[in-house]
Amino acid sequence: MLSGEKILITGAAGRVAFPIARELAKNNEVHGMARFSNPADRDKLQQAGIETIRKDLARDSFDDVPDDYTYVFHAGAAVTGEAERDWQYTFEVNAQATGRLLYHCRSAKGFVHCSTGSQYKYQGHRPLKESDPPGIHTHNYSLSKIAAEALVTWISRQYDVPTTIIRICSTYGPTGGAPASRLDLMVQGKEIPLHPDKPNYFNPIYEDDYVEFGIKALTLGQSPPLVVNWAGSETVTAEEYCEYMAGLLGIEARFRYTDEAYTPLWPDVTFMHQVLGRTKVHWKDGMRRMIQARYPDRPLAPG
Ligand SMILES: NC(=O)c1ccc[n+]([C@@H]2O[C@H](COP(=O)([O-])OP(=O)(O)OC[C@H]3O[C@@H](n4cnc5c(N)ncnc54)[C@H](OP(=O)(O)O)[C@@H]3O)[C@@H](O)[C@H]2O)c1
Repeated sequence: MLSGEKILITGAAGRVAFPIARELAKNNEVHGMARFSNPADRDKLQQAGIETIRKDLARDSFDDVPDDYTYVFHAGAAVTGEAERDWQYTFEVNAQATGRLLYHCRSAKGFVHCSTGSQYKYQGHRPLKESDPPGIHTHNYSLSKIAAEALVTWISRQYDVPTTIIRICSTYGPTGGAPASRLDLMVQGKEIPLHPDKPNYFNPIYEDDYVEFGIKALTLGQSPPLVVNWAGSETVTAEEYCEYMAGLLGIEARFRYTDEAYTPLWPDVTFMHQVLGRTKVHWKDGMRRMIQARYPDRPLAPG
């Protein structure tokens, strides 16, 4: 665990970054950057002891941002939805701004770039290895993240910045994630769209584990970057975890198999186990805790 460091976290109020920022702020000076498109996010960060910096990665200069951060966790990005509207904007935020930020913070001891399993070409029913080729999972988003990895690799190598590229595959917890979105659909009585190449394998990673892995990743930077899948140690299908959550809630899980659904993201975690270790929260415990956090009034069946 880190202490006494000066740490910049972008996308600091987001699903992935906020629990990490909150934990780091207990023992470090933490600055959180975002647009604060939801103004309440600013209070949320300040209440957690995080100093806020308002910037739009798409257009703002970093000239007035300190350049003496010892660590940077870069999670700010146009994610799916926003990313698919305008490819030039998405490349500006996800690729160019990532390069500008890494260059600006090149004196850091560690820079984590949040990449994604969505940058892999789908390999069918086998886990995705770090050496697998890039491809399109979601159009602009995947392409911009592939571009960002190339840019990050060049800057890390050129300026000798210790960097870790984490390829995030399905986080979940009280703040959301794909399993939370599927839970919400079931609670609303709606069908869950899944890819027809069933079953849909994933390795979801719960909040407690990704906080630990996120902080550890900051300390593992290399030049050129260490590239590692970032996921839960256990593989479970979306079908199985949805059925499990439905059973806890006494509701029905209904699936609709459609080519419009994203291909599953099933990461190979062999290298992750070597460098980051194993995750601790069993998926059943994580799913139960997520339901309790998001639907505290709903009674849950034992199991
Ligand atoms: N959650 C997952 O399972 C997952 C999977 C794969 C990869 N990732 C990666 O992990 C990172 C965090 O994702 P997330 O799921 O936590 O998404 P998120 O909750 O949407 O967080 C992203 C944050 O980025 C900020 N942001 C977006 N556009 C910005 C801009 N133009 N300028 C400044 N800040 C901007 C947003 O805050 P404002 O709107 O206030 O600016 C938002 O809080 C991203 O890089 C994403 O690609 C996540």
